[in-house]
Parts: sequence; C-alpha cells; structure tokens
Amino acid sequence: MGASFVPRKRGAWLPLLAALAVVRADDGFRAADEIRSLPGWSQALPSKQYSGSIALADGSGIRYWLVVGEGDWERKPLVLWVQGGPGGSSLEGMWTENMGPFAVAADGALERSASGGWSTEATMLFWEMPAGVGFSTCAARGCPKYDDTKFEAQSSEFFCEFFAAFPALAPLDFFMTGESYGGVYVPLAALGFVEAGCAAAAPRLVGAMIGNGCTGTAIGPCGPDRAANTFDQLADRAMVAPATAERVRGACPAGFLGADDACERALRAASAEAGRYDTYDVMDGCAQNMTLVKFVCDETPNASWACAFGDGPAAPRLASGADCGVGARTAAYLSRADVQDAIHVPRVAGKPVVWGARDIHYTRTAADLLTPSRRSYPRLVEKLDRVLIYSGDADGQVPWRGTEAWTRGLGYATARPWRPWALPTGEVAGSVVAYERNFTFATVRNAGHMVPTYKPDAALALLRRFLRGHEL
Ligand SMILES: *[C@@H]1O[C@H](CO)[C@@H](O)[C@H](O)[C@H]1NC(C)=O
Ligand SMILES: *[C@@H]1O[C@H](CO)[C@@H](O)[C@H](O)[C@H]1NC(C)=O
Ligand SMILES: *[C@@H]1O[C@H](CO)[C@@H](O)[C@H](O)[C@H]1NC(C)=O
Repeated sequence: MGASFVPRKRGAWLPLLAALAVVRADDGFRAADEIRSLPGWSQALPSKQYSGSIALADGSGIRYWLVVGEGDWERKPLVLWVQGGPGGSSLEGMWTENMGPFAVAADGALERSASGGWSTEATMLFWEMPAGVGFSTCAARGCPKYDDTKFEAQSSEFFCEFFAAFPALAPLDFFMTGESYGGVYVPLAALGFVEAGCAAAAPRLVGAMIGNGCTGTAIGPCGPDRAANTFDQLADRAMVAPATAERVRGACPAGFLGADDACERALRAASAEAGRYDTYDVMDGCAQNMTLVKFVCDETPNASWACAFGDGPAAPRLASGADCGVGARTAAYLSRADVQDAIHVPRVAGKPVVWGARDIHYTRTAADLLTPSRRSYPRLVEKLDRVLIYSGDADGQVPWRGTEAWTRGLGYATARPWRPWALPTGEVAGSVVAYERNFTFATVRNAGHMVPTYKPDAALALLRRFLRGHEL
C-alpha cells in the first residue's frame, strides 16, 4: 500500500504520528491474528503465520491458518489446501502431510516437515470447512445440515470475508489444491468463487490441482462401482493370483453391481488371497484393517452378501516406512492450551478445545461432475488456466485406474503422450499424460491416498512445477 504525506504545519505532528502508527500496523494482514511463536519451536518462525476465525453472516466462524510464503512471498502464489471427508480439516494436511512448515516430532516438539513444506513455494491457506469442523464454530443454535450446495455457498462467503481481512494477498496468483473428497469440494469452491466474485479486491484464481479425488456419488472413482477399481489395484500389485483375477473379470463382466453367485464366489477368492491391507496405501500402510469384500460391502449398493465375510485373517505387519503416529501426535499438540493460546483459539467454558474429527451432518449431493454442466470438471478446465489431476498409484480407496479413466474420458486431445516424470535428482517419480487446455493427469509412484504424506519430495516437485506452469 502506498501512503503519501502532505507537509503539515507546526503543531500538527500528533495526528501525523497516529497516522504513521496506523500505516505500520496495516500492512494488509490482520495483525491481531498474527502467531508470534509456537510451543515446541524455540527459534523464530520461518515466515509469518496468522490464525483466527472468519465470521460469516449466519453466526458461524471459520478457522483459517495462513502461512506466508518463505522468502520473497510477494513473488510466490497463494495456495489453498482443501482436505476431504466431508468433515476433514485442512490442518491435517498442514501437520501430517508435510504441507505446513512443521510436524510434531516423537518427543512432542516441532521439527521442520519433510521436504520443508509447501510454504517454501507459496503462501499456504488452510481452512476448517464447513463450520463445525475442527476449531470452526457454528452459531449458538447449532450446526446446519450441509450438502455440497451449502458447502459452495459457505466457501464463497468465506473467500470474500477472508480477502477483505487480508488485502495484501489480492495481487497474488491463487491456486486451489486438495485431495479425496476435495475432488468435489475444489471444483465447487473454485467455480463458486470465480462466478460470485467479491466486493473487495481478491486474487485471480489461476489453477486447481487435485489428488486421488472423487467426482460425485453417481460417477467416477467414488461412484457405485468404485470397488472394481480397488480390485484392479490389488491385482496390479500382485496381491491376487493372475488366474483368480482372470476368473473375477470373466465372472463379473459388468463390474460388481448386481453381482451374481459366480461373481461373488470369484470375489471372495480374490479377497482371501489379498488378505488384509491398508486401504490408503495397499503397499505400505499403518492400518491393515481392510479387505476386498469389506470394501465391496461398504461401498457397493445392494452388496449385503459381501458384509457376511468379516475381516479375514490377521495380516502380517508391513515393513512400513510410514510415520504411523503423526496423526495422534498432531491431535494432542493442537489440543494443548498453550498451542491454542498461540493460535488464538478461544477457550470454551474456560477449557481448551479437544481438536479432532467432528461429526457434521453432511449429505453428498454432487452426483456427477464429469458430464458438462455449470458445476463440472469440463467447466473448471474451461474457466481456469490449468488443472492437474494426480494419483498416488498405491491407493486402494480412490485408485489411479478410476482417475485415469475419467480424465481420459473427458475427451481432450493428447498434447503430450504418456511418459515418466522425474525428480530433479533424475529419479522417476511417476507417469504423466498432458491433454490440450493445460489439463494434465499424473501418477505419483508408490504413494498412497495422501500423496504428500508418503512422497513429500515428489508432491513438492509436482506442486512447484504446476504453480510455475512448467511441464512435469
Ligand atoms: C482402520 O484403522 C484406522 C487407523 O487406525 C481407523 O481410523 C479406522 O477406523 C479403522 N477402520 C476399521 C474399519 O476398523
Ligand atoms: C439396489 O436395489 C434397489 C431395490 O431392489 C434398487 O431399486 C436399486 O436400483 C439398486 N441399486 C443399484 C445401484 O443397483
Ligand atoms: C495454458 O497455460 C498458459 C500458461 O499459463 C496460458 O497462457 C494459456 O492461456 C493456457 N491455456 C488455456 C487453454 O487455458
């Protein structure tokens, strides 16, 4: 912001001093929300951070946490990270997926996150949406019943109120990123923001990047036949004998909806062979409590037959490289009174708030974001400069095959065919196919559902190149 000073006559210096003080405080960031220090980190914060509540008209308050980009932030973009769920908090991504600057170490102190965090590339905005999630609060009469339309309206209101509180961000290029149910949240939030506009200055939305995402309840990787992708994933990874996999494909030619006896028997055999696995990373997970038939039971309409087969035998433990305790350590850290004081979370009845997943009443109403309409991926690709869809290729929850199929199925011409992409070290990090209109599909090799958790360096490389508009 620019301030121009008119020379004043003698004796008029008091108001001038007062004006200077205002100028100094008003740098376009909401000063009262600045985080001065964080318990467990004794040095200066690597960059400025702000956390507070954005008040909405219905009386709810949306918690945000802004980490200003490290170094020359004015030349770096602004990135929103959207957690899935519904009901997930973006603070999970910030603290357990290597997006924020810190992670909670085994001794409860803070350490720099693996790869340094996404705030080395951008000013990161994390939110707890909708109201009722995490530290976000609902009006006194309670949280409303949500659906995807209400989510979109609440997110549009949030953006305008947030950018009014942080006018310094308006000149930055803005990107939305997310994963899982973020595959529905991000297009709705993005198209709502682009169409509704704000009264105050707001940044221009340039692109969207979504990992292992859903595309509606009726179609794509979270549609009624999603278990077929999971079966393919297990077969791809040699967890099902090739002969059994062939039997399943022969007996269930149209997928698993309305499976007949032969299809059910073949699926049970495949499930027994695969054993228990972690649905979020079939190769290297922490919670091996999923089986193929359980997934069919949970996710396939009218598949009650599959529910009769229980959990299957106990699984031998994987030699896991994953940090299985970071979620619990993060929840403990964010539930501390000193941490909540530092990030300006008000106490409730004098006590700190227990941070964690909360039950919000949410009905998934977006049925189909693939068929062109005013709320769809084709519309998103049309409205934004670039869209990158990526998939950790070891995810059993929203497997890469379903995502590859829908991205190809949108029908854009191939601009650059399928090929490997690599880290700066030359190490292959996955595969990529570029379509026209700056629409790209990429995989991240040996990464599960939460790609930046499992492959922090590859996720950061993906982000960096995407933000800069470079090819992978
Ligand atoms: C599997 O384990 C994870 C992590 O411990 C837990 O969150 C989830 O609820 C478990 N699922 C089932 C079906 O037990
Ligand atoms: C499930 O069964 C009900 C009742 O027979 C039927 O109306 C519905 O269409 C079925 N759903 C699917 C996805 O097949
Ligand atoms: C593709 O990206 C380039 C560079 O950001 C941009 O100039 C161009 O307008 C984009 N094309 C489309 C079709 O959005």
